[in-house]
Amino acid sequence: MRTYYCGELRKEHIGETVTLYGWVDRRRDHGGVIFIDLRDRTGIVQVVSDPQRTPNSYELANSLRNEYVVEITGRVTQRPEESLNPRIPTGEIEIYADTIKLLNSVRKQLPFQVSTADADPVREELRLKYRYLDLRRDRMANNLQLRHQVVKAIRRYLEDVESFIEVETPVLTRSTPEGARDYILPSRVNLGEWFALPQSPQLFKQLLMVSGLDRYYQIARCFRDEDLRADRQPEFTQLDMEMSFMSQEEIIELNEKLVRHIFKTVQGIEIQLPFPRLTYAEAMERYGSDKPDTRYGLELINVSDVVKDCGFKVFREAVTKGGIVKILPIPNGNDSISNVRIKPGGDLFNEATDAGAKGLAYIRVRDDGEIDTIGAIKDNLTTEQKQEILRRTDAKPGHLLLFAAADTATVNKTLDRLRQAIAREFGLIDPQKINLLWVTDFPMFEWNPQENRLEALHHPFTAPHPDDLCNLKTARAQAYDLVFNGFEVGGGSLRIYQREIQEQVFEAIGLLPEEAYNKFGFLLEAFEYGTPPHGGIAYGLDRLVMLLAKEESIRDVIAFPKTQQARCLLTDAPSAVDAKQLKELHVASTYKPKS
Ligand code: AMO
Repeated sequence: MRTYYCGELRKEHIGETVTLYGWVDRRRDHGGVIFIDLRDRTGIVQVVSDPQRTPNSYELANSLRNEYVVEITGRVTQRPEESLNPRIPTGEIEIYADTIKLLNSVRKQLPFQVSTADADPVREELRLKYRYLDLRRDRMANNLQLRHQVVKAIRRYLEDVESFIEVETPVLTRSTPEGARDYILPSRVNLGEWFALPQSPQLFKQLLMVSGLDRYYQIARCFRDEDLRADRQPEFTQLDMEMSFMSQEEIIELNEKLVRHIFKTVQGIEIQLPFPRLTYAEAMERYGSDKPDTRYGLELINVSDVVKDCGFKVFREAVTKGGIVKILPIPNGNDSISNVRIKPGGDLFNEATDAGAKGLAYIRVRDDGEIDTIGAIKDNLTTEQKQEILRRTDAKPGHLLLFAAADTATVNKTLDRLRQAIAREFGLIDPQKINLLWVTDFPMFEWNPQENRLEALHHPFTAPHPDDLCNLKTARAQAYDLVFNGFEVGGGSLRIYQREIQEQVFEAIGLLPEEAYNKFGFLLEAFEYGTPPHGGIAYGLDRLVMLLAKEESIRDVIAFPKTQQARCLLTDAPSAVDAKQLKELHVASTYKPKS
C-alpha cells in the first residue's frame, strides 16, 4: 500500500517507514552507495541503499536502470549537511530502502532520456511517437497538471459561484460549416448520408437556451479540418458558455470575473478589472490586427490623406484605388536595420511580400534630422508632406519608417507581421506581462473575394448592432473577442433570437431561403416557440493553457496532439480501413496515389 507520493515527503516525516511507488529517474553509484532518484507524478525523492544499512535491497538497487518501475519501503531520514538539495522540495530528506520490489523493467533502449536531470532537447516527432514517455518528463507533466488546474478553477467558478450547468452536446451531428471544413463520417444505418463532427456546440447551446437552461457551459471537444499552425489543432477543446437574459456588458463582466478567478487560483496572480477594450476599427487602425499584442507600442500611423495626391505613384495609386498608406515607425531602427534587410531579398522585405505587399518603402531619419530614402520618394514628396509624415509618426533622428501601400487588408497584414517581427527582434516583449483586452464592434460581414459574397465574420447567428439594422451589410455585430498577449483566446456574441432577423442574415451571406431552411430549419423553427434573448462565448482552452504555461505551441499542452500534417504519430492515425468496412458503408475512395 502506498503511504505517500514521492514529492510529498518533508522533514516532518523523518522517522516514518513509508512505501512509495514510482520510476527510477536515475541511479548513481557513489563508491558502493547507490542513490536512486525515485519519481512519480508529484516529484522526486532520493532513495539510498548500501550493503551496511540496507543489505536486503542493495543487490536489486544496484541492478536498477532508468525508468524501471519499483515499489520501495524504507525509513525517512535527515540528509547529511553536505547533501542537502534546496532545488527540490524533498531535498532535506532521503529514504533508506529496506526493501525494493521490481515491478517492471525497461527492455529496449529508451528513445530519449526521460530524467529530469537531462534537459537535452528532443525532436518533436520522437516526443510525439513516444508521447507516453514524453508525458513522464517534467515540462509536459507540469503542463498537464496546469491544464487540469485551469479546468478545475473554471468548473468551481462557473458551477459554484455563477450557477452554470454542464451539458454534453452531440459529437455526431449535422454538417453546418462554421468557416472551416467539417470532418464527416458516413452513416451505416442511413446509407448515403453523413454525420459531421461539431466545429463547436454553437447551435445546440442556443437550443439549450430555448429549453430554458439559462446558464450552460461545457468543456467541449471541437473538430475543424483547417490548415494547422502552432495555435491550431484539428481537434481542440473549448470552454463553451451560453447565457440567457444578459446584456453584452453583463456577459463581459461575468467573463472578466471568471478570468480573474483562473489567474488567481492557478497562478496566484491578481489581474485588474475591467480589461481594456478596443473596437475592431481602432484595433485595425492602430495595430493592423484584430488581436493586437499590446505589451509593446510600435503603433501604425495612417498617412493616406497626406500622400493621396503626391508625386510618388505607388502611394498615390494605392489611395485612389480605395486602399491606404500606413507607416510602422521604428525608434532606433535606422542603425539596427540595414538596407539589405528591407530591399528585395532581405528578410523584412520577404516578410512584407509574404503578407501580399508588392514592396517595402522606407524613410530613414539621420542623426542630423535629414531624411534618407529612395529617390522616387525623396523627389516626389513636397517638403510639407515630408514634414507632416515626420510630425505624425513623431519621428526623431534614428527612426526608421516602413511604409505599406495597397488595399487595406494587405497593408494591415503586412505591417502587423513586421510589427511583431521587430518587437521580437528588439526585445520589446516583456514575457512577464499579461495583457488581456476585449475587441468589440466587429463588422457583421467581410467580403470573400474567392466566393464573391459576404461572409459572417464570426458566425451567422451573431446579432447585429440594434443601431445598424437599417443596413445589415455594413452593420456592426454585437460580438466580442478576448485577446491575451496577441492571441485570440475567446470569442462570442449576443445571438439573433428572432426568425426574421436570422433569415435576413442568411440572405445577406447568400443563402437562398430553401438552402437556409434545409440547413438551419430546426433553428428557425425553434425561434417560433419562445426563444429568450441570449448570448455566449467560447474560449480556446488549449490556447489559454498554452499562454499560462508560457509555451509556444498548443501541442505542448495537449496530451496526444496531432502534427502539422494532422497525423497522430503515436497510433499512426489516420490509416487505411478494411475493404469490408467501406463496403458496409457503401463508400469508395476516388483517391489514386501518384505512382
Ligand atoms: P470561435 O470559432 O472563435 O468561436 O472559437 C472560439 C475559440 O476557440 C479557439 N479555436 C481554436 N483553438 C485551437 N485550434 C483551433 N483549430 C481553433 N479554432 C478556434 C480560439 C477561439 O477564440 N461558437 C463560437 C463561439 C461563440 O460564439 O460562443 C466559436 O466557436 O481561441
